[in-house]
Amino acid sequence: MRRLIFICLLLSSAIASGQPRPEQRTQMVDQVFKNVRVLKGIPVNEFMATMGFFSASLGANCTFCHVQESGGNWDRYADDNGNKQTARRMIGMVAGINKTYFGGKRMLTCYSCHRGGERPRVTPNLTELYGPPSTEEPDTLTAQVPNGATADQVLDKYIAAIGGAQRLAGLTSFTAQGTFQGYADAKNPLELFAKAPNQRTAIVRVGAETSTTTFDGRTAWIAAPLTDKPVPMMELTGGELDAARLDAVLSFPGQIKQALMWWRVGFPALIEDRDVQLVQGSSDGRYPVNLYFDDKTNLLVRMVRYADSPVGLTPTQIDYSDYREVAGVKMPFKWTTTWLDGRSITQLMQVQPNVAIDTSKFARPR
Ligand code: HEC
Ligand code: HEC
Repeated sequence: MRRLIFICLLLSSAIASGQPRPEQRTQMVDQVFKNVRVLKGIPVNEFMATMGFFSASLGANCTFCHVQESGGNWDRYADDNGNKQTARRMIGMVAGINKTYFGGKRMLTCYSCHRGGERPRVTPNLTELYGPPSTEEPDTLTAQVPNGATADQVLDKYIAAIGGAQRLAGLTSFTAQGTFQGYADAKNPLELFAKAPNQRTAIVRVGAETSTTTFDGRTAWIAAPLTDKPVPMMELTGGELDAARLDAVLSFPGQIKQALMWWRVGFPALIEDRDVQLVQGSSDGRYPVNLYFDDKTNLLVRMVRYADSPVGLTPTQIDYSDYREVAGVKMPFKWTTTWLDGRSITQLMQVQPNVAIDTSKFARPR
């Protein structure tokens, strides 16, 4: 279970912002792992995101491609089994097909064939063919509603709905206490520290240990016990860094329009029978962020964002609810985060607006 919690925290931190700025302290797989032959030269967080992508693509647990003993022992992940060796060959096959047939563009991924199954299906399924269609989350918007609302208009309505620009500008920091519940896990105490324009730290206590996720205004990391992850401090890079930045910036949503660029409006959609408006933005064109606003309340009900791994984009979905007023600003007190191999529920109990927060809360652990 510990390993599962860890993976949840680890991959949930696939939350980030901006350009990838691998720094000197970014640990690369080659320094940390023992038996990596193909996925070399990438940061540890992107390697772990790749493992999540594999698991989701095949609908398989980690131990499908790793020996049973690896659950609870990082070293044993280095051991090979047959499926792991097949997976290595498949990485090469997919890269080869993309290179040969798609000009090197990543058009084919593990998911294209496997669709959540260990063995790709070979024959079309009639029940599926004539059954109700399943909805696809658009990772790129190709069409926009003609004469529909502009992204600016949708975002303005949202800003008005949560309190208006003036009250939003008046909220410059907050601390919060609540609970964080990982998949099949107990509720653990959570503390949140956020300071405008872009600093945020979340601390989850599991027994005597803590797992801390921080965006310090420029870089992001997760510091957690070694029993829970392969490195004591995992630097977040690429789309995960972008996601951590977004979480920090959107703690003060008055800045939402500046937080992303390339705004576009998608077709209206339904989330649990509610009409919603989809607006998509991106910080640099690589990692799309889908924002869904409730048509009636104009509140943000869902965000779906993507980070990158060498084998495909990894989506993370956050569903916001339980909006309550804090210093005249409506804030979600509950959110459910879903990613490729886990889900967590965060519930705030109390929020203290505009309090002084010591800079040490956003400082790197030594
Ligand atoms: C579909 C197969 C597959 C699944 C599922 C999978 N892995 Fe892997 N894993 C691999 C392959 C292949 C490698 C080796 C990559 C290479 O050689 O470049 C690897 C390597 C690793 C390593 C590096 C070990 C070392 O020291 O060399 C770790 C850690 C790891 N995986 C963790 C996980 C975790 C955690 C999960 C579940 C979330 C997972 N894997 C799920 C295929 C898989
Ligand atoms: C072009 C289609 C295609 C793509 C893309 C693809 N696979 Fe496969 N994969 C297959 C087929 C077909 C099999 C079954 C082969 C067999 O039964 O001998 C398979 C089998 C496997 C198996 C063994 C499963 C078992 O039960 O024997 C693993 C592990 C695997 N793939 C991993 C991956 C990974 C990881 C990726 C992405 C890097 C990937 N595959 C991408 C077609 C694909």
